Amino acid sequence: MLILGIESSCDETAASVVKDCRTICSSVISTQIEEHKKYGGVVPEIASRRHCENILGVVRSALEQADVELSDLDAVAVTYAPGLIGALLVGVSFAKALAMSAGKPLVPVHHIAGHIASNYLTHPGLEPPYLCLVASGGHSHIIEVLSYTKFRVVGRTRDDAAGECFDKCARAMGFPYPGGVHVDRAAQEGDPKAFRLPHPAVAGSEFDFSFSGLKTNVINLLHNAEQKGTEINRNDLSASIQSTIAGVLTEKTMKAAEALGYERIALAGGVSANSGVRAALSEACAKKGYEFFMPEKSLCGDNGAMIACQGSYNFLAGITADESLNAIATLSMEDI
Ligand code: KG4
Ligand code: ZN
Repeated sequence: MLILGIESSCDETAASVVKDCRTICSSVISTQIEEHKKYGGVVPEIASRRHCENILGVVRSALEQADVELSDLDAVAVTYAPGLIGALLVGVSFAKALAMSAGKPLVPVHHIAGHIASNYLTHPGLEPPYLCLVASGGHSHIIEVLSYTKFRVVGRTRDDAAGECFDKCARAMGFPYPGGVHVDRAAQEGDPKAFRLPHPAVAGSEFDFSFSGLKTNVINLLHNAEQKGTEINRNDLSASIQSTIAGVLTEKTMKAAEALGYERIALAGGVSANSGVRAALSEACAKKGYEFFMPEKSLCGDNGAMIACQGSYNFLAGITADESLNAIATLSMEDI
């Protein structure tokens, strides 16, 4: 079975061909980071325009690198939700036209389900059910992966996502967009105990997150230092931010695992590339004797292979769409 996956929900135009659910035949990613860097974040209209310019070339390269003709494909999978609406519409319209003209089934994929599926590409033995922490620029979720296509969200952020918190703290420290990776690098040289930052509890749900207090605390700390003319060591502050975020994500995931009886845990989303988060969750799982899975680093960020992989499982489960498929900016995983 050969599935083409197309991803355009944010600032990466990506396409990939995946064979038999888990083997990557090609994976092409065209990133727009350099362009959005000038503005300190993703500018939605620019993102849509770049997707529009790049998508044909990216898909063509993915087919060529896999040495696959359109006629060889079993289906065309595409991210249809959630994400920037103008960005999603480019991928959805393109995939729809491609599938309809080639007479192939069209398979809708939820972006977060795609992130979770990046683990199947890395770990051939991983099968549901398991508990997955998904932390990205737009989401922080603890999800029960009940089957390849059924999910239950047991925890979510009440405000900022973990990646958003990394990026906003990074910006306040003067790092370029997207700042998560710069905080990660600086943290390697810093002392995680140098600053005491808030570990926010969320009233009413023990598995929900809140990161906006941490962000505000960091911004205030930097602002006060600037007013007093004192120097803040960015490595120490980065290490403190990283260990706080990694600590909160790990603590809540482990609590949920215990409460719900999961001994198999996975990590996914852009923030799964963070060395502190990877280490904290893997150590906590090792201590408990739980199995732990995380995507290889190249599959943590947005890519087409994760969409093709999840698209394969959706296709096998009979999840297809017709020409009325539309893009959706906000959509819970439980509504797919
Ligand atoms: O999954 P993703 O590529 O896009 C969304 O679906 O949102 O996640 C991007 C997020 C950004 O906030 C980025 O800063 C963060 O993942 N990120 C990291 C690291 N690499 C990417 N955050 C912390 N440390 C990293 N090494
Ligand atoms: Zn993503």
